[in-house]
Amino acid sequence: MYKVEEKQSFFDKCREVAAEGAVLLKNEDHLLPLDGGKVSVFGRIQIDYYRSGTGSGGAVHVARKINLIDGLRAQENLEVNEELAAVYEAWVKENPFDDGGGGWAAEPWFQKEMPLTEEIVRKARAFSDKAVVVIGRTAGEDVDNINAPGGYLLTEEEKRMLRLVTAEYENTVLLLNVANIIDMNFLKDPAYLGHIKSVLYVWQGGQEGGLAAADVISGRVTPSGKLTDTIAIDLADYPSDANFADPEKSFYKEDIYVGYRYFETFAKDRVLYPFGYGMSYTDFALQKMRCEIRKGDEGAASDVIRITVKVANTGAYKGKETLQVYYSAPQGTLGQPVLQLAAFAKTELLSPGESADLELEFPVSRMASFDDSGVAGYRNAWVLEAGRYGFYVGTSVRSVTEVLPEGQEGYTVNETICLEQLSEACAPELAFDRLRPVRKEDGTFEKTWSPVPLRTTDLYREIQEAMPEEIPMTGDKGYKLMDVREGRVSMDAFLGQLSRGDLVTIVRGEGMCSAKVTPGTASCFGGVSDSLLEKGIPVGCCSDGPSGIRQDNGEKATQMPIGTLLACTWNPQLVTELYEEEGKELFEKKIDTLLGPGMNIHRHPLNGRNFEYFSEDPYLTGIFACACVSGIQKGGSDATIKHLACNNQELARRTGDFIVSGRALREIYLKAFEMAVKNGANSVMTAYNMLNGHHACANYELTTKILRDEWGYTGQVMSDWFTYINDVYEGGEENVTDTASMVRAQNDLYMCVNNDGAETNAWNDNLDEYLDSGRLTIAELQRCARNILGFLLHSPCMNREIYQGSPIYSYEPDASLAAEAPAAVENAGGVIRFTVNENDGNVFEVLEDGMFHVIGAASFRALRTAQSAAVVTVNGEDAPMFTMSGEMTDQVFSHKFARFRLKKGRYRMCCKVTKIGLKFDYIEMRRI
Ligand code: BGC
Repeated sequence: MYKVEEKQSFFDKCREVAAEGAVLLKNEDHLLPLDGGKVSVFGRIQIDYYRSGTGSGGAVHVARKINLIDGLRAQENLEVNEELAAVYEAWVKENPFDDGGGGWAAEPWFQKEMPLTEEIVRKARAFSDKAVVVIGRTAGEDVDNINAPGGYLLTEEEKRMLRLVTAEYENTVLLLNVANIIDMNFLKDPAYLGHIKSVLYVWQGGQEGGLAAADVISGRVTPSGKLTDTIAIDLADYPSDANFADPEKSFYKEDIYVGYRYFETFAKDRVLYPFGYGMSYTDFALQKMRCEIRKGDEGAASDVIRITVKVANTGAYKGKETLQVYYSAPQGTLGQPVLQLAAFAKTELLSPGESADLELEFPVSRMASFDDSGVAGYRNAWVLEAGRYGFYVGTSVRSVTEVLPEGQEGYTVNETICLEQLSEACAPELAFDRLRPVRKEDGTFEKTWSPVPLRTTDLYREIQEAMPEEIPMTGDKGYKLMDVREGRVSMDAFLGQLSRGDLVTIVRGEGMCSAKVTPGTASCFGGVSDSLLEKGIPVGCCSDGPSGIRQDNGEKATQMPIGTLLACTWNPQLVTELYEEEGKELFEKKIDTLLGPGMNIHRHPLNGRNFEYFSEDPYLTGIFACACVSGIQKGGSDATIKHLACNNQELARRTGDFIVSGRALREIYLKAFEMAVKNGANSVMTAYNMLNGHHACANYELTTKILRDEWGYTGQVMSDWFTYINDVYEGGEENVTDTASMVRAQNDLYMCVNNDGAETNAWNDNLDEYLDSGRLTIAELQRCARNILGFLLHSPCMNREIYQGSPIYSYEPDASLAAEAPAAVENAGGVIRFTVNENDGNVFEVLEDGMFHVIGAASFRALRTAQSAAVVTVNGEDAPMFTMSGEMTDQVFSHKFARFRLKKGRYRMCCKVTKIGLKFDYIEMRRI
């Protein structure tokens, strides 16, 4: 049970983080903080404050939430204009929050604004000379944002509100309660120029967000957040814009030039607010900058760059500053962005006059590039090209100073060094030209385009040559999974006991809202059949994620700030502390892994799920993913990093093909995953999309070659929910049944088949067919089973009471049915099967007392995310509900949903569907 009174320290941490991630873009005349004054607040979002984006990442049921107006009321040094607040409260009551009808991905990205009048503003002006205007936007799964009013742009109503307020107020603070960056050109509008003096991105701060934003406004907290994305003048300025959100094929032509890597190299003048930028109420001076090269013992590859800086608070407020170190690499043969983030560090809270000595170290290997073409001399290797590497220290990518190592021009590599020779993986199959810079005489860079190296590997051969060996199948020896944990038997000996039936079952997760685990969660996996349970395999539970626990049954949980806000803190230690609380909550709720953090790269500002992710920069993303994972692990549960890889748009996210060069993959889109894996992540979710023609879940080179062989990952890999799969060799057409391709790629778990449907193969996947024809081997299934069991072995579920199998219901026969002709009588094989009569139900007859598995078969043509159920009764008494999620076909799927203890005699079973669309076919009972 979730108890609010026990959660204060978690709530406090949410508040602290939410305030620390606020980014101050502008603060003329030191308007903020509004210390000790009266304030009038405009905009309906002061009441309907956004806690998060929508979709799986935002579906936390909270026990409390604090909006902006209440957050401001809670500040001791501020007096809120209550008369104005009452006007808004009354209007919002009449014009309630529009959730789009409550359907999936139906919520609009903005809320209709209250039409403001000059009179209201004038009245407010008489109360206070300072105004706060709040504008809100949400975003979410399945739909990208749009470059239109209400999306990336302000609506006419919002602009009108700003015009009316700024006409009366010279001192206006603009607060952006948004999921993602929005267009900022409106600030240049002469109508508000000089009047919107302060702009604060407060993002979506979770359940405590309103309080945290108010903390910053009142000065209780000095802002110290920094942008993790570049805010450009125009959407069209983003290098991915021309190739974003193609419903079929998105070519990543900008290659590694994502975000500031592009702008600093090619388009400095197109930036409004640079990456890493964010102001404070106080001022800082960077003093005594030093750079030192520490020679390693194992040649240049082990050299370390060490930078020390004294950061002094020279202003009038307490505050924190973040120091950022960027490097410049020689253009060499590969071409390079002008600057790339190498390290960062944040001070503690410094009082005026106080200073801190920061020390930042990073290995030179962090400056390596991936040569996917061989031009630098080593094809498919991480290399440090010959030439001079420079170091730049400052407080944003734009405000940096070069620091030279004593007596040297920089760090010099005389001859290109190969740091790690790898082999080709996930190269594109379709040709396209990618961007690269060429330096002009005046030192600026010209855009040139060159063809990407294409796939040369022979997938068939690769897979065949690396086939695992089968562990001899021994039948049940009585070993339990705990015996493996306690060292009594080897994992191999345990695996040998799993029958073919066990193996095909264990790679299927069940959900959503399985009754076998914590109610309302996304899926269960592991011990999903009686036979697996008998071997002591527990049922693992996972839930969304990333910013709090989603329980669709309405159970409460704590909602943390969104991913972008977390990264804007530039304070991974603080985020680790926050996620430690999350880990404790997961543990309390018996959830073994959170489906998060989301860690895809912000390739384009309109991606609907950017809010769940951290940044346009891979290193920063990796650091925050590591912070979340290690925090959760400290708290006692686990994290599933997602979505591997390139889930950078929501349009056609399940079917789109994203075509990316080997270099961009390694340096930009996989880098953060690599960091998280090497830092202890042990559960990965693959993306829905295709990556270079292969669905991520059946992309052998992604989930076996790179993830496991190169990075040394030994954990489990699960697919995204109800994903499409395509052929592991050929790619091509997608379907939902080619689980064999998924297993061959070592994506261990299909998420997910219907509840209780793993054992009966409710989704009619091809595992048995492929085993029969030799197109899949037992050894490959054993390999996936090993990965899943390896995860479960160290999960909290190992110490929980083992789930006892599908629920058992006992019924007495109904003598009054003696005169009715039964629809089915038990046959010699102990099977009773009848076509469901949804009107009157069906009478069936059991020949001897005993226990039966009950299997339901039905079709449900609907979106895959839709859910339906049927209320089942036997002789008028309740039986368990039959649940099913949507299918895009009329195909019939079966799953086992209960066990019945029945005596000899007749019974009437009725199945009544609760949500239209689900059509029953048959019920089958099998004697156990
Ligand atoms: C999302 C995942 C999520 C899963 C389970 C999918 O639609 O893409 O991120 O974890 O649903 O809710």
